Amino acid sequence: MKKSILISAAILALAGCQSGDPQLGKSSVDKVLKAMTLEEKVHFVIGMGMAGSDGNSAVVGATEDIVPGAAGTTYPIPRLGIPSIVLADGPAGLRINPTRENDPNTYYCTHFPIGTLLSSTWNQELVESVGEAMGQEVHEYGADVYLAPALNIHRHPLNGRNFEYYSEDPVVAGKTAAAYVRGVQKNDVGTSVKHFAYNNQETNRTGNNAIISPRAQREIYLKGFEITVKEADPWTIMSSYNKINGTYTSQSKDLLTTVLRDEWGFKGLVMTDWYGGDNGAEQIAAGNDMLQPGTALQYQQIMDALKDGSLTEAQLDVCVKRCLELVKRSPKVKGYAYSNKPDLKAHATVTRQSALEGMVLLENNGVLPLKDVKNVAVFGCTSFDFIAGGTGSGNVNRAYTVSLLDGLKNAGFKVDESNKETYLKHIEKEKAAFQASLDPNDALAPFYPVPRPSELVPSPKEMAALVKNNDIAIITFGRNSGEFFDRSAADFELSKSERTLLTAVTAAFHTAGKKVVVVLNVGGVIETHSWSWMPDAVLLAWQAGQEGGNSVTDILTGVESPSGKLPMTFPMNLMDAASSLNFPIDATKDVYFTNRREDVGQKDVDQTDYAEGIYVGYRWFDKYNISVSYPFGYGLSYTSFEYSEPTVKNDGKTVTATVTVKNVGEVAGKEAVQLYVSAPESKLDKPAKELKAYGKTKKLAPGESQTLTLTFPTSELASFDEEASAWKVDAGTYQFLFGASSRDIRCTAEADAAASEVPAHRVLLKQ
Ligand code: BGC
Repeated sequence: MKKSILISAAILALAGCQSGDPQLGKSSVDKVLKAMTLEEKVHFVIGMGMAGSDGNSAVVGATEDIVPGAAGTTYPIPRLGIPSIVLADGPAGLRINPTRENDPNTYYCTHFPIGTLLSSTWNQELVESVGEAMGQEVHEYGADVYLAPALNIHRHPLNGRNFEYYSEDPVVAGKTAAAYVRGVQKNDVGTSVKHFAYNNQETNRTGNNAIISPRAQREIYLKGFEITVKEADPWTIMSSYNKINGTYTSQSKDLLTTVLRDEWGFKGLVMTDWYGGDNGAEQIAAGNDMLQPGTALQYQQIMDALKDGSLTEAQLDVCVKRCLELVKRSPKVKGYAYSNKPDLKAHATVTRQSALEGMVLLENNGVLPLKDVKNVAVFGCTSFDFIAGGTGSGNVNRAYTVSLLDGLKNAGFKVDESNKETYLKHIEKEKAAFQASLDPNDALAPFYPVPRPSELVPSPKEMAALVKNNDIAIITFGRNSGEFFDRSAADFELSKSERTLLTAVTAAFHTAGKKVVVVLNVGGVIETHSWSWMPDAVLLAWQAGQEGGNSVTDILTGVESPSGKLPMTFPMNLMDAASSLNFPIDATKDVYFTNRREDVGQKDVDQTDYAEGIYVGYRWFDKYNISVSYPFGYGLSYTSFEYSEPTVKNDGKTVTATVTVKNVGEVAGKEAVQLYVSAPESKLDKPAKELKAYGKTKKLAPGESQTLTLTFPTSELASFDEEASAWKVDAGTYQFLFGASSRDIRCTAEADAAASEVPAHRVLLKQ
């Protein structure tokens, strides 16, 4: 066997020799590199342009439609056995075109839950299995690198892309992303972890300068990426659009070489975000190995810099080599015969099941799980037109989306459809009016998040019939989400018509002694404090992918007890978030700020001062005891859990904590346990508590217990001391808090740590 492999390798090598040129995949990368001309090298680090773009691509006649709808391809050099590899979006599933010209087949992909729902599961194994299913679609549809996951910090509730991201906490973001990467890459395809880094708003995102202290960068904005790189070894990383302290991230050697490679040991490739940065030569010099989707200008910039000596061929070679290594490990080079037939049926089950674990039960006065309910009245436009996920590059061309109405019917409920026609017509009409209001010459027109239609409030007569004929009311409120836009302040609040509907339905059903459940089909945080007391239950369903309506129904009926918890805080008021002072909000208007500078008028969006430093999310709310609607880590269950026997040990290398969790309720369920650390008094200002690890129990039967073991490196007790430019662990006694949320600490233990210090490069400084 071994012998025959050797013989065929020798034959292949000979075949390469015969043409005189080394072949990638057969000869060493160094040999191939040596055989490349300067022109080939420069072309190779630049992508093939983008279909539908301005034609300003690096190579004439550029875009190769290997996988139509994919975001990018790399430059092929057939004489050296270098194929074009395919880069395609995520993160909620693969984004390619569902149909192709002159081809009767369809190429639908599974729309999995949005990122925020995945992190709400607090279940790394489950996220890994979702990643594995996504990776299979990437592989079987002929793509090589999946442009996902996305893990920027939820710095502010109105960031339009929070739905793709995971959390306000870097440990949740990093662990979720690492699990996702491990899952996808099991399929021998790559990931591109994005957007590295500090891409925390869409407003003027391609020009915005994020001004952030080195401490906040290290502890908050880079930490999740560091965890992902160290734990999951992604094939690639995507730099972001914005600047950090005056330099485009894609042109920052501090970020892409000193921190990412020298300090963290990253061995893969860095690519730009699409058209990111403004100088191709500076990108190459910084260690941004591949420029996507590629422009003729970048080719010229690199060539000019090589000529005037500001960029050397040796610097270029570093990037070319990394591009070669990426292509070499791709399925394309290995000649993988993809089927175009991923297992969509199996993946529909994966998405339905995973969505169950990320839905968060916010309120429940006992109405859920539903008992003795047969006839259901549904309200709210979104009940009929469920939102699977967001738009823009995170959109997935799926075959269908199960609405709440259909989910309930699938489960055998008798849903009152007397209001269905009226709702559907109303939704159509408002959507058409919105489309008609758009400027067809506006390049962003196809991407504007369609505002949710105004709500319909039944007449007293219609309402009386709905109350009479049904056992319960379910109202869904929805919010669209999408790339290119930050949300408006109005999007955060319930609209006037939503409030009117909620008031009318609860008044009518409660008067008849019947219950009301609200389902939130949203991509991000909304205001709940002013109204969450009105209905009998509130289920935060997020945007749960194509099986959304089925997953919601499974939770409502108690097929599974909810076990999702919030990966971010729900503030009482928008302005309570520390970052509100420095986020481009116009609270007076219902406007979306877009990624275009000119759309924001006079407001200063050229730079964003992250003046709150490390005080993001619960670090802020808990330090200053600010009342919140729902704290970080919060989520109800149909059962309840008791925590006991907390222990913690620090051997100087690893902190190991254990806690026993017992299901003391009536039904089976899982519990997500959070381990926070409260540090001793220090020279540095510290948050009241910080999450260091978390875990989830298996499904515990009533009366059953499980001991969870949570570990993390002792070095993670450190804070970043800017003066010393070092990670410092203070000597002293640390409190370890086992929480059901950041404000529901069930038991504690303590352990000592010795002082230690790890120096870091003095980089990424404020100018
Ligand atoms: C987005 C990226 C995406 C890329 C390619 C950009 O607009 O920011 O997340 O991967 O486009 O579609």
